[in-house]
Amino acid sequence: MFDRNIYVARRDRLRAEVKSGLALFLGNEESPMNYADNTYHFRQDSSFLYFFGLDFAGLAGIVDLDEGTDTIYGNDLTVEDFVWMGPQPTIRERAAKAGVMRTGTIAQLEALLADIQAKKRPVHFLPPYRPENKLKLMNWLGVAPDKAASQGSVELIRSVVEMRAVKGVEEIAEIEKAVNVSVDMHIAAMRMVKPGVAEAEVAAAVHRVALAAGGDLAFPIIATIHGETLHNHYHGNRLKSGQMFLLDAGAETALHYAADLSSTMPVDPKFTERQKEIYRITLAAHEAAKRALKPGEAHREVHLLACKTIALGLKDLGLMKGDVDEAVLQGAHALFFPCGEGHMMGLDVHDMEDLGEVYVGYEGKPKSTQFGLKSLRLARPLQPGFVLTVEPGIYFIPQLIDQWRAERRLTDFLDYDRIEAWKDFGGIRNEENALITEDGHRILGKRKPLTIEDVESVPRD
Ligand code: GLY
Ligand code: MN
Repeated sequence: MFDRNIYVARRDRLRAEVKSGLALFLGNEESPMNYADNTYHFRQDSSFLYFFGLDFAGLAGIVDLDEGTDTIYGNDLTVEDFVWMGPQPTIRERAAKAGVMRTGTIAQLEALLADIQAKKRPVHFLPPYRPENKLKLMNWLGVAPDKAASQGSVELIRSVVEMRAVKGVEEIAEIEKAVNVSVDMHIAAMRMVKPGVAEAEVAAAVHRVALAAGGDLAFPIIATIHGETLHNHYHGNRLKSGQMFLLDAGAETALHYAADLSSTMPVDPKFTERQKEIYRITLAAHEAAKRALKPGEAHREVHLLACKTIALGLKDLGLMKGDVDEAVLQGAHALFFPCGEGHMMGLDVHDMEDLGEVYVGYEGKPKSTQFGLKSLRLARPLQPGFVLTVEPGIYFIPQLIDQWRAERRLTDFLDYDRIEAWKDFGGIRNEENALITEDGHRILGKRKPLTIEDVESVPRD
């Protein structure tokens, strides 16, 4: 945990932002994999961590916006629990570490919420994403589980997003730790790829680095020879000469701050000329996006700059044609780049996605519905303290190419005969993590091998 004063100050700021009533923060419960006692690795809710820092199951926190009090609710464990878990601090001892002096049991919380509702004081809650917390809201506040996510308090969501979006120095230091571990994860993969190695062996080596550093993974590892599938979690292939291997993997620190890096490397010691042609275009898009990262710049424009750089490069290669600005306006580049150029990152790898992309990335304004642009998670103007990913990529997705070709989509901008010859290419993505500073940006952590020369010069085991 950070120092208790950090949590006290965050709750005081929340009180200054949200007008009246109670803010109810639900911690997460243990979640069973296949029977009650065999649980997934516990992950606390990130907003609960942000305001209370307590990394245990079964807690709820109340910030009273009128009376200025904070309370942690939870039931103390018993000696029978200690038999299995070892001795555990009391709720009171835990709460004190977050600067919270008032505690109560879950039964007391239920009684309080009944009383508050009878008095018609507002109870603000964030959109729940876990079934256990939807059930609590049903039992305690009478909120229907299928409506609970849409009944989150917009006032609370907006305030939490504005607070969590701008990272404090203690958070930036923690994210930088996660990035440094993640760079080591990527170098471990670059050292071991060669024909005959299994994707699963690389994934295991990458996970080992994260665990050995004292944390774990921020999201499931993508370690694949099929980089064209954006979130490919299958690790059943063996690497073959001539292929490329894409790793998208990031560490989460013990305090649960994330990093998110991607690398694409040849299975052989060197890229082929054909691979280099596409790699160079992704790198040009990556550098163009980075150059544009500064306060006041709308991230939508950074994304579109990456799209235009990709379209220009593919036009030079003969796969796209026509006016590049018009091609991007009409979304033709999305055949090769159907996702966003970057997203916020912090306590969540896609930071605050549970609170709603429209609030996190669009200041409450509607998102585009155009294929490609609709997958951009962050469009709003950048501010100092934002942490985000930079991850343009080029993907040859055979099913998508076949569909667009059959529909004769955007034929003014796409040369399907030429594209046909690239259908087996796969995908390339590189990804770094940036902090927006007062006058530009800073790439977080130690340098990750990024250029063709960087990647080829990592010594292989
Ligand atoms: N690292 C996975 C993603 O950004 O979607
Ligand atoms: Mn990412």
